Amino acid sequence: MFLRNYWYVAATDAEVGRKPFGRIILGEPVVFFRTEEGKPVAMEDRCAHRQLPLSMGKLVGDELQCHYHGLRFGTDGRCTRIPGQEQIPRSAKVKTYPVAERYHWIWIWMGDPALADPAAITDFHWLDDPNHWGAKSSYLHVEANWQLVVDNLLDLTHLAFVHDTTIGNLALAEHAKVQVARAPNNVVVTRWIIDQEPPPTFKKVGGFAGHVDRWQIIDFVPPAFLRLDVGATPTGTGAPDGKRVGGIGMRNLNAITPETETTSHYFWGQAHDFDVKNAETTEKIFQQIKTAFLEDVSVFSAQQRNLTMIANPPQVDINADAGTIAARRILSRLYDEERSAASVAAAE
Ligand code: FES
Ligand SMILES: [Fe+2]
Repeated sequence: MFLRNYWYVAATDAEVGRKPFGRIILGEPVVFFRTEEGKPVAMEDRCAHRQLPLSMGKLVGDELQCHYHGLRFGTDGRCTRIPGQEQIPRSAKVKTYPVAERYHWIWIWMGDPALADPAAITDFHWLDDPNHWGAKSSYLHVEANWQLVVDNLLDLTHLAFVHDTTIGNLALAEHAKVQVARAPNNVVVTRWIIDQEPPPTFKKVGGFAGHVDRWQIIDFVPPAFLRLDVGATPTGTGAPDGKRVGGIGMRNLNAITPETETTSHYFWGQAHDFDVKNAETTEKIFQQIKTAFLEDVSVFSAQQRNLTMIANPPQVDINADAGTIAARRILSRLYDEERSAASVAAAE
């Protein structure tokens, strides 16, 4: 199940340059490159002649030349040259995709190009606001369906068990006050953990001596964007009433892009609102979160292995699933809406 009429993160800005770069997005092979002016381009990674991935070819100016028999394609996807032949058949073209560059990511629109409005790109400005936020982002390949990653970030009780050496401790699962706010296309899970021991990472980067009031506010927007506002202050100083002083605040930022039904691209970053210009702090936080996320990635692939062997098994729901279930409902409604719009369009 893929939602098509959305912007997805396709690559980091550094991945896309003058060397063609291939990546499968929503089950379609796509090749990315930059024009001589630096503009990102995305087109089908499948030559119109005999299907070789165009990412194996090379750029000649702003045209992509296939590695096999040398056909060239312009940034509009049309074939511009067939070696030894003057007539170029009109069918000699490959599909192109709308792209945009924002927040150090290259975004792609996989649906109807007429609907692609860059204003609809989900806000991740924390990754590109160096005066207010220290930040570093990265990429992980995940051997699991994209919705398993979404589930994971909407239920943070798992930190207590999966990430107990970094960002988790038992207080998170046992002592959190949780609220789930649902809107038609949005779920916000707010978790407060009051007057509890800080987890190892918070001790390391926040220097807390005693108990803290910790928050985790998870903002989900479809198809797979999860922006987490997390942090802690010394207990009793008023964080739950909005007085976030004397502590640390961070944004954990996640954009998940389906690769296939059983694999995903996981773009993530961590931003922090303290010591913002200190690259060492940024790196220290980043490494802690990376350790945790690698632990998640092994959970996802193990889940997927079982789901691949036994599809749609019976599952038990628990209270902690409230946010996950709300998000899954939104996603399946949006999928039905997209499919019925597509069948109406096909009938017209
Ligand atoms: S497969 Fe690309 S030119 Fe033949
Ligand atoms: Fe996790």
